[in-house]
Amino acid sequence: MKNIAVLASGTGSNAAAIMDRFIGYEDIFVSLVASNNPEAGVLEKAAERGVPTSTFTKSQLNDEEFMTELLRGIDVVVLAGFLLKIPAFLVREFEGRMINIHPALLPKYGGKGMYGEHVHQAVIENGDKETGITIHYVSENYDEGDIILRETVSLSQRDTPETAALKVQKLEHEHFPEVVEKLARSL
Ligand code: GRF
Repeated sequence: MKNIAVLASGTGSNAAAIMDRFIGYEDIFVSLVASNNPEAGVLEKAAERGVPTSTFTKSQLNDEEFMTELLRGIDVVVLAGFLLKIPAFLVREFEGRMINIHPALLPKYGGKGMYGEHVHQAVIENGDKETGITIHYVSENYDEGDIILRETVSLSQRDTPETAALKVQKLEHEHFPEVVEKLARSL
């Protein structure tokens, strides 16, 4: 039996896709959705699906005792639009068991401040012919852990940051749950 925790700061469409994937499974469970943002839509999405939720402050995230207790029994930690930096003790504790999704083809458009619409705006401004997603292990530096999967989608001159975001989101929902499952099964 494997337990997954999803950490998210926002809407939670990826968290929802992951929770939906494991409905009816008897060996893999999303057993916690936790957020640093008490207003985050992801908490409602979890509650609708009967998944336990929790919120924490930035200082609690950096408190080893608090987080160890919160994530007790968790095998895989999934960052799905989680905007705070993960403290080193958690990176170490979940080495090879914590993954993140980035809405661009890393190493391009990664790093601090590169999230959400900022990413898609930069991609369109640069006239890139393609964009995509990168799913990677979490390391101590933003967006720099080993890459597990990259998927690309082409862009035309008609694409805007908004349409690029929709194309990327489709890829995310198609691929992220499957990567989470593969990781859980590999442990
Ligand atoms: C996604 O684009 C993901 O790649 C990024 O944050 C966004 C989260 O979206 N890390 P959602 O909250 O899952 O809808």
